[in-house]
Amino acid sequence: MTKITAAITGVFGYVPEDVLSNADLAKMVDTTDEWITTRTGIKERRVLRGEGLGTSVMGAEAVKGLLAKTNTKPEEVDLLICATVTPDHFFPATANLICEKVGIAFKASYDLAAACSGFLNALVTGAMFIESGRYKKVVVVGADKMSAIVDYTDRTTCVLFGDGAGAVLLEPSNNELGIQDFILKSDGAGAPHLIQKAGGSAYPPTHETIDNRWHTIHQEGQAVFKFAVTRMADVSAEIMERNQLTGDDVAFLVPHQANKRIIDATANRMGVGPEKVMLNIHKYGNTTAATIPLCLWDYESQLKKGDNLILAAFGGGFTWGSVFLKWAY
Ligand code: ACO
Repeated sequence: MTKITAAITGVFGYVPEDVLSNADLAKMVDTTDEWITTRTGIKERRVLRGEGLGTSVMGAEAVKGLLAKTNTKPEEVDLLICATVTPDHFFPATANLICEKVGIAFKASYDLAAACSGFLNALVTGAMFIESGRYKKVVVVGADKMSAIVDYTDRTTCVLFGDGAGAVLLEPSNNELGIQDFILKSDGAGAPHLIQKAGGSAYPPTHETIDNRWHTIHQEGQAVFKFAVTRMADVSAEIMERNQLTGDDVAFLVPHQANKRIIDATANRMGVGPEKVMLNIHKYGNTTAATIPLCLWDYESQLKKGDNLILAAFGGGFTWGSVFLKWAY
């Protein structure tokens, strides 16, 4: 019996209309376009504005577009997983709300949290349901409204993040396209370096937690940078090695968009030239779980059936990982 693989058979993205440029941020905190561009590669990012609008709004737009584009009826979807660290609420899950908004009823749906590695973890989880033969159509969403947890008085973090969502459809492939291999890792010792300290069960909201700004992102940039730059490159090199791939065999590196310097270091280690690196950090910033599907969406027209892609991410937790897949269309 031939092995069933899980292939991405469609991708769609959504970013809000409102642009927050480096020049806008320079009016809010002590920073410059030059500092942000040279340290991160980011020029602008999108922000979802409007009372009561959460991550599910963006996720639903991405899924609506995906279903229309792939001629998939909502009732055909077996499972929807949403990777996010900025859910609309702790419960119900943002995945439940997305399903409600797009007309997917009485099907499995849940959220998965692994910060910037969330999409990779959700993609692999969804793939397992396809590979087992249990489900035929799984939607994987990566969506984050980072503006909801950014402290816009902290110049060290507010310049980095943006809002957005991306979604892919996973279906069984009978010709060995799709996900070939993956490496997923985590290290909870990284928690103090990148954390939203309050709002959960350890520190429920109080006046004190709010005054201390514990509901926003705390990041020790340099510590995270050092860890990210080695770990993301390590897993990317490892997955290539164990699948006997050289830089020439790889059509594209699809890296999490946190910092252009981390992306460049990963590409160098893999022996992949800049022309093979998907990059959109300049226009969206770090959208956490959405960066990888948004890259696939932006570069879709350049992809060919059978192309070898290496997806790689690093984020809070710490969490990191890589996926090797063959593009299916
Ligand atoms: N504008 C101007 N100056 C700034 C800014 C800013 N926006 N931010 C910091 N600075 C200053 C600092 O205060 C510091 O000044 P000092 O020397 O007087 O103290 C100086 O610039 C250098 O600061 P560093 O933190 O050393 O700058 P660095 O080169 O490390 O860049 C950055 C900071 C961009 C955050 C980098 O460390 C980074 O990208 N880290 C990794 C981020 C990442 O990958 N996160 C993981 C994913 S996120 C997730 O999972 C949710």
